[in-house]
Amino acid sequence: MTDIQSPVLVEFDSGIAFVTLNRPEKRNAMNPALNIRMLEVLDELEGDERCGVLVLRGAGESWSAGMDLKEYFRDNDDKPRDVTLKARRQSGNWWGRLMYFEKPTIAMVNGWCFGGAFTPLVSCDLAIAAEEANFGLSEINWGILPGGNVTRAVAEVMRHRDALYYIMTGELFGGRKAAEMGLVNEAVPLAELEIRVRKICASLLEKNPVTLKAAKDTYKRVRNLPWDLADDYIYAKLEQMLFLDKTKGRDEGLKQFLDDKTYQPGLGAYKR
Ligand code: ACO
Repeated sequence: MTDIQSPVLVEFDSGIAFVTLNRPEKRNAMNPALNIRMLEVLDELEGDERCGVLVLRGAGESWSAGMDLKEYFRDNDDKPRDVTLKARRQSGNWWGRLMYFEKPTIAMVNGWCFGGAFTPLVSCDLAIAAEEANFGLSEINWGILPGGNVTRAVAEVMRHRDALYYIMTGELFGGRKAAEMGLVNEAVPLAELEIRVRKICASLLEKNPVTLKAAKDTYKRVRNLPWDLADDYIYAKLEQMLFLDKTKGRDEGLKQFLDDKTYQPGLGAYKR
């Protein structure tokens, strides 16, 4: 499973692409090599039919210890500004791609999750954590504020008081607390983490992929729009989705319920 040659591993199983941050000896801290490779991996998986759902996990005992404090920060400190900007883009680019990835994405948080790792965590559509995982906005502990859009990511999903508390104290919190605060969907014992994630994947894989992509993007984008623009955007997205769906899933869904009476939409998805 661990391969020290590659900072990112990809394995396929039953429609799931397991993408593993693979620097366990550095607790999967994100260095430039990992950031560059992650963008390539997302590009490769976008059109790969073996990937119906992307699961992002970490090798070893960590999900990700955040940015690599040596290779991302200190090694660049004395370099020209364009080097710093390039390093920022290398991480920001794959986090941004992840936010609107073509397939559903699940962060499977198996262990440590610090600082910069909150941005890919929140960029994933869903997040399931091990109860044993530990999270921390540790930036304050070494003298910076949560950059790399971590502050924005935290504001997206956490309550105001919780966000400020952890931004200002840098205290650790566990998987259950992360779920209670809305940072992850749920927390389960580590021994059950992959089983639970696979179950969610199975549910997502039953759904029409064109509809899934349209539904998640629409949700993420309309939350910050005023009502009239949101209403217009939603209809535009809906009509785009009907155009893009060559399988005509909507018609099929109506037919299987109204004519064939083979399923009930309230209880599950139509058969694709
Ligand atoms: N950047 C660079 N190297 C790291 C990082 C990191 N973020 N995290 C761990 N490492 C390295 C350590 O330096 C050590 O390297 P070495 O073996 O060459 O000495 C190795 O990974 C193992 O780390 P340990 O601290 O020995 O592992 P341990 O399991 O005891 O502790 C823990 C794990 C708690 C994650 C600890 O490594 C740690 O606090 N890491 C930093 C977490 C952090 O604050 N990250 C930055 C967030 S802010 C941001 O991302 C912008």
